[in-house]
Amino acid sequence: MPAISFQSVCKTYQTPNGPFHALDHVSLDIAQGEFFGLLGPNGAGKTTLISILAGLTRATSGRVLVQGSDVQIDYAAARRKLGIVPQELVFDPFFNVREALRFQSGYFGVQHNDDWIDELLDSLGLADKAGANMRQLSGGMKRRVLVAQALVHKPPIIVLDEPTAGVDVELRQTLWHFIARLNKEGHTVLLTTHYLEEAEALCGRIAMLKSGRVVALDATSELLKAASGNVLVFKTDSVLPPALAAQARVTGRVVQMVAHDTQEIEQHLAALRQAGVEAQDVEIRRADLEDVFLGVMAAATGGRGA
Ligand SMILES: Nc1ncnc2c1ncn2[C@@H]1O[C@H](COP(=O)(O)OP(=O)(O)O)[C@@H](O)[C@H]1O
Ligand SMILES: [Mg+2]
Repeated sequence: MPAISFQSVCKTYQTPNGPFHALDHVSLDIAQGEFFGLLGPNGAGKTTLISILAGLTRATSGRVLVQGSDVQIDYAAARRKLGIVPQELVFDPFFNVREALRFQSGYFGVQHNDDWIDELLDSLGLADKAGANMRQLSGGMKRRVLVAQALVHKPPIIVLDEPTAGVDVELRQTLWHFIARLNKEGHTVLLTTHYLEEAEALCGRIAMLKSGRVVALDATSELLKAASGNVLVFKTDSVLPPALAAQARVTGRVVQMVAHDTQEIEQHLAALRQAGVEAQDVEIRRADLEDVFLGVMAAATGGRGA
């Protein structure tokens, strides 16, 4: 039985401009024990999918099963198996950290949970903040509390929606160390992130979402095979001629051009020289998951009739 089964999930929002298809027949199964990544640009539908999984939003059609329990028909059973770290920082300003965790334990009917709460506080670097009021915590500290809150009832499935967006390096490391340990101990992890190097390092399998549709779904190692080439990277103050710009990814002064072999690298360099583009800090790096992601996004036709 899969840990999570999304079965042809559709979500249509009614908007002043007419119906908006946020999710378009999303189907995927996540096996027990997987570390699964859900990637996609802003607005792809990741948070909507997780809200449906969490029972916070209703799917327009299709269904979602959590270890066999339907999130709509059998909400309590499904919810108890999930630990969800939401994208938005939501918290009760009147609680201190320990109170917030005790309250959450109570919500799941878990009593005498202080040993586990202490372990969570320790593992997430929150031990000295147990008595601090939620209001006084920095954004990064609040994020840690949200992770602890999601885990108070030791859920078999952990869902993290962009847990490291705007978070410092130290928290990222603490968090990934802890989540990786839980995954080794058998917990299933579903992660959405903008940081593709995180997904590449952590996730065994990845789905890419574009405009509400799954446009890639494979083992991370398989997806990376599509990135077998190299990337020519340089900086320039010149404007690239259109023929070159069409093949390049430009971020400010930084230009990246995919090259499958040395011959292609030489061709790129020759074309740049011919166009009078002055390239500085030239580097050649191996293609990575971000290159695969951008390739998939450029090639895929998303949903929403686009
Ligand atoms: N309540 C809502 N009403 C209308 N549109 C919404 C609502 N919630 C989300 N959307 C739209 O659905 C799309 C998917 O949003 P979201 O699931 O938050 O994407 P992601 O998490 O991948 O960035 C976006 O275009 C967003 O504007
Ligand atoms: Mg989101």
